[in-house]
Amino acid sequence: MPPSVRRSVEQRADSVGFIAVKRAANAIAEAARDSNSVRLSGAEHTAAYLLTRMPATYAASCKVLDELRGVPVASVLDIGAGGGSAALAAHEKFPLAREITLVERDPLLAEAAREWLPAAHILAGDLRRMTTFPPHDLVIAAWSLGDLPAATVARLWEAARVALVVIEPGTLRGAAFVRKVREELLAAGAHMAAPCPAAMPCPMVEPDWCYFAARVELSSMQRRIQGGDLSYQDERFSYVALVRDPVGLPRARILRRPRHHPGLIELDVCTAQGRRSERATKRRDRDAFRAARHAEWGGAV
Ligand SMILES: C[S@@+](CC[C@H](N)C(=O)[O-])C[C@H]1O[C@@H](n2cnc3c(N)ncnc32)[C@H](O)[C@@H]1O
Repeated sequence: MPPSVRRSVEQRADSVGFIAVKRAANAIAEAARDSNSVRLSGAEHTAAYLLTRMPATYAASCKVLDELRGVPVASVLDIGAGGGSAALAAHEKFPLAREITLVERDPLLAEAAREWLPAAHILAGDLRRMTTFPPHDLVIAAWSLGDLPAATVARLWEAARVALVVIEPGTLRGAAFVRKVREELLAAGAHMAAPCPAAMPCPMVEPDWCYFAARVELSSMQRRIQGGDLSYQDERFSYVALVRDPVGLPRARILRRPRHHPGLIELDVCTAQGRRSERATKRRDRDAFRAARHAEWGGAV
């Protein structure tokens, strides 16, 4: 996250105190296992959400918005914005986007977002009750739609002048929701932007599902809260980015972390023809092997 936002988030957590933030962070993590419409209550929950969840949702949003590079975005609508991590990510990836609107019902999170996005317009209502959304070039809903009806998604697509991005937890349930959004909106005339290499039926078969990961450095308080020795965590997410006008699509998307063996790299990829395993060997194809050495989970080839 931008250093000034990170500092402010850490100061809020410090002022609430370690024990209270840890307790609230555990409660949020527990509630998020069952639902993503977690209701926060009070300064402790807000501080804990901003400290433990916002860096991860910000990192994932940045990764997803990288996939829309070159798409013209001058305005952004962040739905269920929380502390505005998706809007902040959009602000970084689309610096020309001057108009930013957040929809967020939680007053403490909205107030926090106002601190680092002072020019943003904030709609404080319940998005279930909104029958229309103000049109913006990019509409992004990150970790906020999973429990909402399909009609809401259709309304968000109506509001998206250029692109709609939906990001959900990288769980079976989160991915199933994303897949439903993908199917409904492709049927309604949307074009695929990412992650799929084509608008074909999704080839993922349960118990497997489509998800990616964003690596997040943990602050020292986060490390103390989460315990363990790791200085980072991998935030898993599922997403779809859809656009009004067709964009170029990659040949394939890398579905899992590439497996490296001596002289051989195996890639699990999704292509327009379905999911398959591809192998690049140093001896037979040096160029493909060199390219595969730089390949990353979630990247395109
Ligand atoms: C899990 S948080 C995600 C926040 C943020 N998008 C992020 O990526 O960090 C879900 C957010 O959506 C908001 N939200 C959920 N349902 C809502 C509703 N019906 N109306 C307005 N906001 C809602 C919650 O208050 C919460 O801030």
